Amino acid sequence: MNWLIKSSIGRKFVQSISGLFMILFLLFHVSMNLVLIFNYETYDFLANEVLGANWWAIVGTGVIALGFVVHTIYAIWLTLQNRKARGKDRYASSSKTDTTWSSQNMFVLGLFILLFLLLHLYQFWYEMQFKELLMIEGARHDSATLVKEVFSQVWVVIVYIAAFVALWFHLTHGFWSALHTVGWNNTIWMKRIKVLGNVVSTAICLGFIVVALAMHFGFSNLVG
Ligand code: HEM
Repeated sequence: MNWLIKSSIGRKFVQSISGLFMILFLLFHVSMNLVLIFNYETYDFLANEVLGANWWAIVGTGVIALGFVVHTIYAIWLTLQNRKARGKDRYASSSKTDTTWSSQNMFVLGLFILLFLLLHLYQFWYEMQFKELLMIEGARHDSATLVKEVFSQVWVVIVYIAAFVALWFHLTHGFWSALHTVGWNNTIWMKRIKVLGNVVSTAICLGFIVVALAMHFGFSNLVG
């Protein structure tokens, strides 16, 4: 287990697995959000009854938080390690196989997503789960209405869409790079994985954008 901390390939492995885990979380999260477009009651049921302050939801939140913390700590660690290794040549063109704009800006993109996440958790998770758990008055159970309220503000829609675009760049490189690190690195599969990464990242980010716009402009609750 020591190699996951001591060796640089071990650290990249942890970074990759935690990143892939979060992609799974985002797929789940965007699927759940899409329910908002069709039916508020179903969304409220899922958010409160299924994922409310139940023990499994608390464990789930803990696991997701752990994934984010590990991913962030290792990102800082690997970035510092790379800068040290490259010394003055930090900005010289690298010999890596993938040198897209995203690949060179993963840390900054990640930082922006992290800042977005702090705002996002304050707007929703704090209002819905944190207040409920600590029995603070005013915990919100009308999840769909809360989402609609928050997205009625134009600045929120703009900030969120900027974050989804950053997320798209972060994920397209991250997906490819993570699978490369865990061993999927022969030439034929690398091309396919790039395409798959683009499809998954676009599905996630487009899904979030559609929900944000639908909530802002009121194209939602078609069924309920
Ligand atoms: C239109 C876009 C989004 C909407 C409407 C939305 C909505 C929500 C809501 C209502 C919650 C609290 C209830 C719940 O746990 O389901 C939540 C929690 C959360 N969201 Fe989002 N979200 C969006 C995008 C994102 C993005 C892009 C990320 C990550 C980059 C993200 C990460 C999280 C996390 C980590 C939690 C806490 C999960 C937990 O409690 O276990 N969300 N979101």
